[in-house]
Amino acid sequence: MVSLAEALKSTASLVTEYILSRVAGTPRQLYDAALHLIKAGGKRLRPFIVVTVARGLGASVEAALPFAAGVELIHNFTLIHDDIIDRDEFRRGVPTVHKLWGEPFAIIAGDLLFAKAFEVMGEAIERGVPPQRVARAYDALARATRIVAEGQALDMLFEDLENVSVDDYLDMVYRKTGALFEASAVLGGLAATDDDEVIRALAEYGKNLGIAFQIRDDILGLVGDEKTLGKPVYSDLREGKKTILVIYALSRLGEGQREKLLSTLGKRNASKEELEEAAKLILESGALDYAESVMKDYAGRARTALSKIEFVDREAARLLEELIDFVVQRNW
Ligand code: IPE
Ligand code: IPE
Ligand code: MG
Ligand code: MG
Repeated sequence: MVSLAEALKSTASLVTEYILSRVAGTPRQLYDAALHLIKAGGKRLRPFIVVTVARGLGASVEAALPFAAGVELIHNFTLIHDDIIDRDEFRRGVPTVHKLWGEPFAIIAGDLLFAKAFEVMGEAIERGVPPQRVARAYDALARATRIVAEGQALDMLFEDLENVSVDDYLDMVYRKTGALFEASAVLGGLAATDDDEVIRALAEYGKNLGIAFQIRDDILGLVGDEKTLGKPVYSDLREGKKTILVIYALSRLGEGQREKLLSTLGKRNASKEELEEAAKLILESGALDYAESVMKDYAGRARTALSKIEFVDREAARLLEELIDFVVQRNW
């Protein structure tokens, strides 16, 4: 019986190899910048979902590979731009693209991956996916990419708002993160079927998994270990992000502590001590337990959606279920 860790590793190497063989050209500096994060690593969770859903529904991994590469390319495009937006200096354990190549070049490197994502998807036709389903896949990925842009804008706009609600937050994280998980599950489905009921349940699985994933990401941004994560902790505090933990803390703390937290949130030159103090206030409010309970609720919704799908490959179905546990327990 193959473990989730082994399955993730083997899909990751297939997808990475495929991407590296398709993303090449000149000027060399542009391709170096575009491939920098891809070469540095990453969990490859979104392509894993594409490939495993496809397999589970009876399609071949080869047929699903262009879709898997498409979602990972879009993901990496958003990461390059996200690190500019969030002023972050490392990711996947290496310096961010804009740190090494400068912001203007990093913007173009992101654009290149954005375009490449759609270029590689067409290869699914040569690999036997009917053109009508490939057209639907294009539509789903374009839609998700548009929704991610909306989510990233909300994420930034919320920095300047004091009264962001948990519902506002959940809408924002669906858009910035859930939508691409949703598209990953849908694309995996489209590699195998055009049964609308199955596609709907897959969308529900991906969307809820993605929301749970982002809540875990917010938790790790506060209590995670930088070395294990490969990206900075406390960056959300410095940028004044309205994570679910911050929203909860702001609603629970007494006036004095609330003011203290607000004075550090969004303070770009906050010292390590100030950030640690702010993190302490958030944790003392009980925000961690609250965030975990909401995360588990979304994990449960993903599980329910998954249980409605009839998979022909039981191993793939098991891996998709185990992925939910991984997402909510992960430390990287
Ligand atoms: C990071 O995603 C961006 C978020 C949506 C929080 P991942 O944690 O999947 O990043 P990699 O691909 O493994 O580096
Ligand atoms: C996640 O952004 C969403 C996208 C990258 C589109 P975050 O800013 O929350 O994620 P990290 O923590 O930088 O990976
Ligand atoms: Mg970020
Ligand atoms: Mg961000």
